[in-house]
Amino acid sequence: MAKKVGITETVLRDAHQSLIATRMTMDEMLPILDKMDKVGYHSVECWGGATFDSCLRFLNEDPWERLRILKDHFKNTKLQMLFRGQNMLGYRHYADDVLEYFVQKSVANGIDIIRIFDALNDKRNLQTAVKASIKEGAHVQVAMSFTLGDVFTDEYYVNYAKELQEMGVQSICIKDMAALITPYRTEKLVSALKKAVDIPIQLHTHYTSGLASMCLLKGIEAGVDVVDTAMSPLALGTSHAPTESIVAALQGTEYDTGLDLVLLNEIRDYFMTLRKKYIDSGLLDPKMLATDANALIYQVPGGMLSNLLSQLKQAGKEDLLTEVLQEVPRVRHDAGEPPLVTPSSQIVGTQAVFNVLTGERYKTVTKEFKGVVRGEYGKTPVPIDPEFRKKIIGDAEPIDCRPADLLEPELDKLREECAEWIEQEEDVLSYAQFGQVAVKFFEKRRNAKYGIDGKHGDAETQVHPV
Ligand code: CO
Repeated sequence: MAKKVGITETVLRDAHQSLIATRMTMDEMLPILDKMDKVGYHSVECWGGATFDSCLRFLNEDPWERLRILKDHFKNTKLQMLFRGQNMLGYRHYADDVLEYFVQKSVANGIDIIRIFDALNDKRNLQTAVKASIKEGAHVQVAMSFTLGDVFTDEYYVNYAKELQEMGVQSICIKDMAALITPYRTEKLVSALKKAVDIPIQLHTHYTSGLASMCLLKGIEAGVDVVDTAMSPLALGTSHAPTESIVAALQGTEYDTGLDLVLLNEIRDYFMTLRKKYIDSGLLDPKMLATDANALIYQVPGGMLSNLLSQLKQAGKEDLLTEVLQEVPRVRHDAGEPPLVTPSSQIVGTQAVFNVLTGERYKTVTKEFKGVVRGEYGKTPVPIDPEFRKKIIGDAEPIDCRPADLLEPELDKLREECAEWIEQEEDVLSYAQFGQVAVKFFEKRRNAKYGIDGKHGDAETQVHPV
């Protein structure tokens, strides 16, 4: 029986987030969008993740305007975003009213498929986002954060998937952000999931360790319905398997994607010009394109590895990288074995750096690490040792409810705080997530409107137009 495999194209989100720190601009995307719309992708992932932050912080672009432009051009293709559960696209937990409004506005501006994940795989952190997505009529997918460790068995993921199906989730993604999954593990896990749930299974894995294409193929043979790939000029390395190669590999088989290689090749030509531009400007470091089995040894995502290195460089202690990489699994163990993905990767990584740099474990403890140990981010996959918890948070009361239950509605307060900048309803959501970064963007936007070139200036030193 023919089973068409779907392709989610990630070149407009994860591929450039993985390779060039999310710096692809709307102007760079524009010339190729209409052609991409003709391909027949299952979906195009193009928003959420770090794109929102990057638009405001580095590119001086309104992320909402970007979404509307994308929607104008993708008339036949579903637009997909990545969403960090109760953290939305920011780095803290938001109250439910903000979350619901964010989902409402994301769908209203063009998102069709919302992929939601929680770093700890705590389903309570997904429930508001899932409910809101269903209410707004989006397709809601939950991505299970994949990692290795004694508790992360096929059974663990099967149980999680069953719970997600019961919650009303419409498809499930295996999210292997750190490129840890191997071809045969993929086959085993996908087979187990296909037996346990009826909803479609998607596979998201990175090329970092060089295994991604093999994992996708094994996953497809085991019944995966949709795979994530990236157009070849921004594939491989810390990005994904190349779209064209996967399409070619499946052509003429029962898994044929039905996509046209000639058309894909025309799109490739365009992205090659961008790739050349990124390499020439230094934005794309050829190192990012190399296969790196360190990911398999140290089990840290590529982005986390480069963050650790830059933290150590700042302290002039690059030579301690191996010590820090050895400390990461110990800190992760102490913290209840969280999968390492935003924000847990940053929290565990920074704590490991402190433990090594100060020469004494937990002599300095970050606020965020205390938060994880206290339960502020939700339930960790393995319970935290009570003695360790006491050492880290003292007599502070541990949290065992859904963390967002402790948050009062905050949308009205946020609206008041940024009232002077609001030009569209969505602005409050940019402000909610990125605070002063959003205000700087609003300031530049206003200056540009009044003919003051805010694009390259320092917004703080500019006079407010009245
Ligand atoms: Co990814």
